[in-house]
Amino acid sequence: MAKITTSTLLKMKQQGEKISTITAYDASFAKLFDQAGIHAILIGDSLGMVLQGQDDTLPVDIDHMAYHTQSVKRGVTDTLIISDMPFMTYATKEQAFTNAAKLMQAGASMVKMEGGEWLVDTIKGLVERGIPVCAHLGLTPQSVNVFGGFKVQGREKSQADKMIADAKLLEAAGAQLLVLECIPCDLGKAISAAVSIPTIGIGAGKDTDGQILVMHDALGISCSYMPKFSRNFLIDTGDIKKAIELYISEVSDGNFPGDEHIFVK
Ligand code: KIV
Ligand code: NA
Repeated sequence: MAKITTSTLLKMKQQGEKISTITAYDASFAKLFDQAGIHAILIGDSLGMVLQGQDDTLPVDIDHMAYHTQSVKRGVTDTLIISDMPFMTYATKEQAFTNAAKLMQAGASMVKMEGGEWLVDTIKGLVERGIPVCAHLGLTPQSVNVFGGFKVQGREKSQADKMIADAKLLEAAGAQLLVLECIPCDLGKAISAAVSIPTIGIGAGKDTDGQILVMHDALGISCSYMPKFSRNFLIDTGDIKKAIELYISEVSDGNFPGDEHIFVK
């Protein structure tokens, strides 16, 4: 496999090829996912929940993210490495510059931030300074306390229209990738059609340009709770590398997510 860049993912969208991505937090899993042919790895701030056992992602700090990014980087040969900016590390543009630089120097090739219109100036500034940005709309977990729980977003028309408008603004600001989390299937489809950058869905239906799963969900490690939108690929394969290869082929063939994994309104 050749080295995957933002251009590779853009070309995949243009050619209608589905993008498969997953989270990882250490070198060994990253290496295995890379060898299985995954298109991008996200060092997600979900590590607060799946590694640290926290109730949400808010306690994660930039040093945690840099540490795990360095670890993942050592395992990766080809895949694109995206690293999450944690809660309140991009509250101002200046904070975003300083903290994004830490993740890039730790080995990321792109940083991810949660939010819409308010991030426009920040994204523009980061891209001008050489830092590619993945945006994240929908159920943005750092705002769980504003949402009043982990709930599907964009069910009301006004909310959905705002999300589509935000997606266009983020693209215009220079974002090169867009994660969509826990939104109705039709809205995932509408946003993916409204922007020319690739969209990566998690609980966002079948029509996004790609999918992402938290590795602990894809491998059935999160034993206390399995989100509706996820699937345990290890059960069908009994082997971690084969599980990830199955995930990639199911996404590529349009078999994952299935009807049981999507939010219809
Ligand atoms: O932190 C994370 O793992 C994420 C994905 C679920 C998109 O942000
Ligand atoms: Na995240």
